[in-house]
Amino acid sequence: MAIKLCQLPFALLIIGLAQLETFVVGTTGVPRVPCYFIFGDSLVDCGNNNDLETAAKANYAPYGMDFPTGANGRFTNGLTIADLIGQLLGFDHFIPSYASARDEEISSGVNYGSGSAGIREETGKHLGDRVCMDRQLRHHERITSRIRVLQQNKTFTNEHLKECIYIVNMGNNDYINNYLMPQFYKTSHKYRMEQYSEVLAEQYTKQLKKLYRLGARRIAVFGLGMLGCAPALMQRFETNGTCVDWINDAVMLFNNRLHPLVEELNYVYPNARFTFINLTNILAPKGGEPLPNKPCCPVRPDGQCVPNGVCCPSRSLSVYIDSFHPTEIANILLATRAYKAQSNLDVYPMDIGQLTRDRFDA
Ligand SMILES: *[C@@H]1O[C@H](CO)[C@@H](O)[C@H](O)[C@H]1NC(C)=O
Ligand SMILES: *[C@@H]1O[C@H](CO)[C@@H](O)[C@H](O)[C@H]1NC(C)=O
Ligand SMILES: *[C@@H]1O[C@H](CO)[C@@H](O)[C@H](O)[C@H]1NC(C)=O
Repeated sequence: MAIKLCQLPFALLIIGLAQLETFVVGTTGVPRVPCYFIFGDSLVDCGNNNDLETAAKANYAPYGMDFPTGANGRFTNGLTIADLIGQLLGFDHFIPSYASARDEEISSGVNYGSGSAGIREETGKHLGDRVCMDRQLRHHERITSRIRVLQQNKTFTNEHLKECIYIVNMGNNDYINNYLMPQFYKTSHKYRMEQYSEVLAEQYTKQLKKLYRLGARRIAVFGLGMLGCAPALMQRFETNGTCVDWINDAVMLFNNRLHPLVEELNYVYPNARFTFINLTNILAPKGGEPLPNKPCCPVRPDGQCVPNGVCCPSRSLSVYIDSFHPTEIANILLATRAYKAQSNLDVYPMDIGQLTRDRFDA
């Protein structure tokens, strides 16, 4: 599961709503890149957990209540940030989950995202099965082999894979469903916060290098949002409605490592482009009335929606659908600025739009 959002100003939500119109009309035509691959947690999962034995799944109402075909495994009321970026890239279909993808679909991309998964293998274990980052990379390895077989031209497939956009959204659960649960996981006994961010960043670097070796050249790495402002954690740490500052500080330690991380990768691999998407900055309140950080739907003790719970009528005025996950309107804001930065702190060194256009010796 992922937590992403802090108090989002009302004005920004309205801007988000206006952009929704553009999404609806702007989705036909040829995509800007031939393919789009998605790695991450519940922020991007589109059904990979549906058949796993885990409490972390969202294939029941009210999830998907604003999605054309209803509940499907997405941990939100409508589209995920990954879906929305796909639309901005010009795809006229949703990238299928690894669990459901058919041969004729995989050349244009696969979504490996899995709720409760993390950079570390054990992350999310207390909830049940999940596809951790290493396993997502193994799935990708299988998919690239399969694409090679289908396309029957190694040179062509290598060129194809270089042109794709890859997004990676990991790390939320290494805090929420690992470090912040000392009753289930040893990490907080073993590492201080600073050390933990370092250990995570090191492992993440190795994983991103593996992704490069599997042919990826245009890679966007998402930082974490202000986890300390998620309703579930404010409740767990009994802050009486204010953000848990020390959790936000811990998250910042990790985020601050992603900047040098992409710098290093871009240096080591001059024929690739890695970029950092700064969700913390995108969601920083800039004046306006902050909205209360309350879930839109009635939630279970674990923070997910109660099955068939009756949700707030105006989802476009709510940041959280349950105690962890953003609503579609919040995802629209995130995706829009990840794709086209509105401030020089939103992305480093480039937004996803630029990532599709940049020419380099790939
Ligand atoms: C394989 O793909 C490359 C790059 O697209 C192309 O130049 C070449 O002609 C292809 N080879 C065959 C045998 O089709
Ligand atoms: C929590 O906040 C409410 C509203 O601001 C206040 O009335 C209440 O006394 C607070 N409770 C504690 C334990 O701080
Ligand atoms: C990300 O945004 C936060 C909040 O505005 C800022 O403090 C931080 O420096 C930014 N990080 C990068 C690498 O730009």
